[in-house]
Amino acid sequence: MSMRFAWTALILLSVGLSARAAEPPSLAKVGVPFVQKYCVSCHGEKKPKADISLHPLTGDLKKPKELQVWQAVLAQIDSRDMPPKDSKQPTDTERTQMLESLAAAMKASGVMLDDNKWLSPVKGNYVDHQLLFSGKPAKAITGTKARLWRITGPAYEDYIDKLINRFILNLRNYGEFRLTAPWNFTPQKDFPDYASAHRVGEAEIEYLLRNATIVSQAMIKRHSGNVPSYGGYIKELATLIKAGKNATPAQADAVLAPTFRELFGREPSDREKERYGTFLRTTTASLGGAEAAEQLLIALLCQTEMIYRIEVPNQAGTPQKLDSRSLSRSVAFALTDQVPDQPLQEAATMGKLSTREEVAAQVRRLLDDAKVEKPRVLRFFREYFGYDSAPSVFKDEVTLQKIGVRGARGWNADFYVSDADQLVLSLLAQDRDVLRELLTTTKTFAMTIPPQDRRGTYSDEYRLKKPTFEQDEQTLIKIYGVAIKARADWDPKKTYDFPEGHRLGLLTHPAWLVAQSGNFDNHAIHRGRWIRERLLGGRIPELPITVNAMLPDEPHHTLRDRMKVTRVEYCWNCHKQMDPLGLPFEQYDHFGRFRKEEMVLDREATNDKKNLNMKGEPRQIKFKLLALDTTGDISGSIDPKLDGSVKDPFELIRRLAQSEHVEQVFVRHAFRYFLGRNETLTDGPTLIAAHQAYRKSGGSMNALITALLTSDAFLFRSTQ
Ligand code: HEC
Ligand code: HEC
Repeated sequence: MSMRFAWTALILLSVGLSARAAEPPSLAKVGVPFVQKYCVSCHGEKKPKADISLHPLTGDLKKPKELQVWQAVLAQIDSRDMPPKDSKQPTDTERTQMLESLAAAMKASGVMLDDNKWLSPVKGNYVDHQLLFSGKPAKAITGTKARLWRITGPAYEDYIDKLINRFILNLRNYGEFRLTAPWNFTPQKDFPDYASAHRVGEAEIEYLLRNATIVSQAMIKRHSGNVPSYGGYIKELATLIKAGKNATPAQADAVLAPTFRELFGREPSDREKERYGTFLRTTTASLGGAEAAEQLLIALLCQTEMIYRIEVPNQAGTPQKLDSRSLSRSVAFALTDQVPDQPLQEAATMGKLSTREEVAAQVRRLLDDAKVEKPRVLRFFREYFGYDSAPSVFKDEVTLQKIGVRGARGWNADFYVSDADQLVLSLLAQDRDVLRELLTTTKTFAMTIPPQDRRGTYSDEYRLKKPTFEQDEQTLIKIYGVAIKARADWDPKKTYDFPEGHRLGLLTHPAWLVAQSGNFDNHAIHRGRWIRERLLGGRIPELPITVNAMLPDEPHHTLRDRMKVTRVEYCWNCHKQMDPLGLPFEQYDHFGRFRKEEMVLDREATNDKKNLNMKGEPRQIKFKLLALDTTGDISGSIDPKLDGSVKDPFELIRRLAQSEHVEQVFVRHAFRYFLGRNETLTDGPTLIAAHQAYRKSGGSMNALITALLTSDAFLFRSTQ
């Protein structure tokens, strides 16, 4: 039995559960008639296809035979393999209801559906697009399930950094030897920062404990001896430390509240008072004041809120608004890598985060204030487009020399990423038609100087150093083709026009092209998949492990020719959804250079007698130029207006950029990123509202983000 079925079942199950009022449809009433209608004509009593008879099914999973058959049915309906394409097809609603009834029946009979795969962002598109945007109003508040969402590594480091600065601790907070976060996100092809994606493991706890110990010891040192003349200082802590073995319970008690205020900007809760109070008094009695103070600080610096956004309602049951403090953290961590700033903290304490409008005001303030860094917004675009992985695609010296790039620094794909970042940021600053502009701009930055953080170091996201014109210009002139002839023409703060007719938007920017390439060639399949999933909202089943996914090693043929192996019917079922969308980008070579012809190995010339040495080996590898074919095709889209052939990447991109459907798919991805989870059918109204906000504002990303961060899904949590 394949594992594929489990997550669909679970998606549907979670949908069924959050629509609390509705009884799950019974399998006998929904599933059985479905099978009668669409399956028994071939899987009936007489000569059943594949020897599978479905007519005796009753919907009672307690019968052991039935369970097995239903599982097979589930797999087929989920993968959309059955009914076969040429027979009558159920509607999406029928399919969904069928799966829902089946999932509910399985859960009721205790079948384990333990696969977590459905939670991952790649599965987001499996929730039916038309149903999501069908415009049915929300029946009730549709919150998000209670959860802990691990804060980002940079957010943890920022917290430690601020502590070091406030208390002037003698610890490194910059460069390679600073205290680093115990965790970080491993790059992957989709959003890695998902609430479900990470639980802190044992190794990370140990690391956290080590950091906490280092910081605590520095804090103890700071609070021993003379009172410092400037910087943060907790007087009660100093008193306890000084009292040493003679410390009294009263001195221990006095420490808790001011320490909480300094570390977390809040009072300890009753439970915390009880727990840490007892702990402090006992350790003070047995080990003395200094030791007790150190242990307390270590414990606090390993608290849950050091690691997670805590998004849990105060009471179990129906959806409730997050309390102000949790909400203020969720807002801050949604946009920045920092704990709430002063105004946000104040709003939370003054009860000014109670209404949607009040939350919106804070979100807008953060978005509009250019001085507030919003790395999480930029990160969304990096991860959505996936251009930031360009530097990890290795290009070897020999291939580089072929295009005339020499020397270790000649190829520096970091600049592409940095330039694309600046492009995104500049379009975000204009905040008009953001997606369309990103898809169709004809401008680029060139060798931008990457932003430094407050500490004056380059963030880990950039490995590059300041560009130098002499060393890096070849990348520019050869790949971008922009008109920079001499150093005097170059201004890293300016945008340049790509040559007329060469490029259109991020998908033709070398950053994206290189990220979506292999070491030696373009990766048309990958590019096509990206468009299918991220712009068209399609879903492509994973590559079956039984397929040897290799193109023939035929350097004398074009990539398009070599991809003919995927035209076999079995392969084409999947590949027709990817290949024709990726092939128009053959307009560029795998370094992202615009080209007019394609260069392939000239076998004849290479093996020509005149070119062979005494050993019969070619003296020189010869190449020839072939006419370029950039045609492609959009097919099978949810919006049929999009379908049809295209002659080049520009026609493809223009059509996509005009589409409202594409815009909706983009909004779905933004939802996933900012909510940290996949959408379910009950999120339909939130998605529609977010899309409307984007449209009505003329394509403002700020409006879209504000809509998402003030939606029920963001504000409400339930324990069910
Ligand atoms: C037009 C005839 C037809 C209809 C209608 C049809 N099937 Fe099939 N089914 C087949 C054929 C032919 C095979 C065997 C070849 C194959 O796998 O494509 C098959 C195979 C299967 C298998 C076995 C697949 C495997 O893993 O080997 C299952 C399970 C199945 N069908 C379920 C269904 C369900 C559920 C429906 C209704 C939603 C359905 N079929 C509708 C023709 C049909
Ligand atoms: C069930 C769907 C499916 C089927 C069937 C399928 N593929 Fe694929 N194939 C994929 C997916 C998904 C990818 C990965 C695309 C990506 O993200 O790069 C892929 C990638 C590939 C790649 C590129 C591998 C690489 O990373 O360089 C080749 C080559 C390939 N498939 C060939 C084939 C051939 C040949 C067949 C038929 C024998 C086939 N595939 C059948 C889904 C499928």
